[in-house]
Amino acid sequence: MKKNLAMKLAVLGLCVVTAFAFTACGSSSSSKKTTKTYTVVTEPTFPPYDTTDKDGNLDGFDMDMVKAIAKDQGFKVKFKSMEFQSLIPAIQAGNADIIAAGMNVDKERSKKVDFTNTYSDSGLVVMVKKDNTTIKGVDSLTSTMKVASQTGTSGATECKDLQKEGKISEAVILDGFDTCIMQLQNGDVNAVIIDKPVAQNYIQKHSGKFKIVGKTMDAESYAMAVKKGNTALKKQLNQGLKNIIKDGTFQKLCDKWGIGNKFASTN
Ligand code: ARG
Repeated sequence: MKKNLAMKLAVLGLCVVTAFAFTACGSSSSSKKTTKTYTVVTEPTFPPYDTTDKDGNLDGFDMDMVKAIAKDQGFKVKFKSMEFQSLIPAIQAGNADIIAAGMNVDKERSKKVDFTNTYSDSGLVVMVKKDNTTIKGVDSLTSTMKVASQTGTSGATECKDLQKEGKISEAVILDGFDTCIMQLQNGDVNAVIIDKPVAQNYIQKHSGKFKIVGKTMDAESYAMAVKKGNTALKKQLNQGLKNIIKDGTFQKLCDKWGIGNKFASTN
């Protein structure tokens, strides 16, 4: 009889302990909102860095890289698409946390946002229709020609400079690189100034209807950007980037998206 009572008490005790454990788990998971979700912004007419998949979801090297860094550093990300020129203002206004948009580090931008370490090298090129025989590079553009690029990009700055110098008739500045390519195809513009890996990707996609002419013009490398003074997030991104380079994830993503790995020689 006594034994039985002892047993019952033991079982009861166990139940109480278990109930406590469950409550504890419950409350700790609800207070464990420490897994932060950061809003990552991009502009998706910049394949293979920034594009959309068949279902219209944001996709590309930049998205994969940020996802891998987030996994490594234990935070979550959600992606948001906007015009290229709205990316920096969104960070400044606190409407987004991270820019991942094949964005070159440059002096002007560095006054407005903080850049992480760079992750990719690029350069600008002149892209024309494949059958064009007159344009052989930036130096053979003439004062009757129209040249397109995307709003807010280094390509747009180059186009505007060419126009100021009287070397082209018009800098056609458009919201997306897809529209620039369409205008080139339609003959509305004579050339597009665009980042080299992206030009190569568009050429591939349009089964060789376009070509790159002349030399690659220098441009700074790509980096992610965060709000000025957000050193904590910048450090996390840099550490995550370092880790995914070291563990081979970065190389896998370069292979997946067909881009060069700027760290390959140092590995
Ligand atoms: N690399 C160029 C720049 O920083 C163009 C970037 C365009 N990126 C994009 N996602 N549309 O100005």
